[in-house]
Amino acid sequence: MGKIILNSKNLTKSYQNGDRRLVVLNRINLKLEAGTITTIIGESGSGKSTLLNVLSSLDTFDSGKLLIENEDIKSFNEKKISSFRNEKIGFIFQFHHLLPDFTVMDNVLMPLWIKKGFGQYERPLDLLSDFGLLKIKDKYPDEVSGGERQRVAIIRSIVNKPKILFADEPSGNLDEKNSAKLIDLFKRINRDFNMTIMLTTHNPSIAKIGNNLYELKSGELIKR
Ligand SMILES: Nc1ncnc2c1ncn2[C@@H]1O[C@H](COP(=O)(O)OP(=O)(O)OP(=O)(O)O)[C@@H](O)[C@H]1O
Ligand SMILES: [Mg+2]
Repeated sequence: MGKIILNSKNLTKSYQNGDRRLVVLNRINLKLEAGTITTIIGESGSGKSTLLNVLSSLDTFDSGKLLIENEDIKSFNEKKISSFRNEKIGFIFQFHHLLPDFTVMDNVLMPLWIKKGFGQYERPLDLLSDFGLLKIKDKYPDEVSGGERQRVAIIRSIVNKPKILFADEPSGNLDEKNSAKLIDLFKRINRDFNMTIMLTTHNPSIAKIGNNLYELKSGELIKR
């Protein structure tokens, strides 16, 4: 096995629903090897989004340990967590949340503006060009197709060169052609930037693109 970039030990997460406690993640042990693609499947409600939110440090957990690049996430305060996340983690939400009042170009510049200040940067242009989206750079999100919006959201999530990219059901409601483009995009990001990727999906063909496939069931991760 190569370098382990993320390591979860007996990670447990539950929600309090009224007087009942729902254990969504039950002692999850998972090691992500740097530069690999991991895919997660599971029924609706099985906890896939919860798993991604917790592993990406967007959400807290009850017990267990989470190490990202050997750093213990639980030991961080709020400020440290957000700068750590900004530095190392990319996240693509199921609903891409592009900012409607900004053009495609400005949407992908946004993470750099937040990190380094307002201005022009080369990298988003290069990425848009690489992925055939240069022609829509000055359009607004509601003027481009769903598949294009999804790819813009992916580019936006990688402009800061995160170490790990989490994607929660990125194929959403894409048709077959756009799903194929999406798979190609993830493979290229993984290969060209050696980025570690973890994604959830209901789509069987996307589930197969990774190095490792797990099913989340009854709070446990089962290797498939
Ligand atoms: N904030 C919350 N408070 C209480 N229960 C929650 C909360 N968020 C999620 N849950 C519950 O936790 C379980 C797992 O939800 P989660 O969203 O992680 O599932 P999922 O596998 O991503 O489902 P889907 O495939 O529909 O997106 C569900 O039973 C859900 O109702
Ligand atoms: Mg979900």
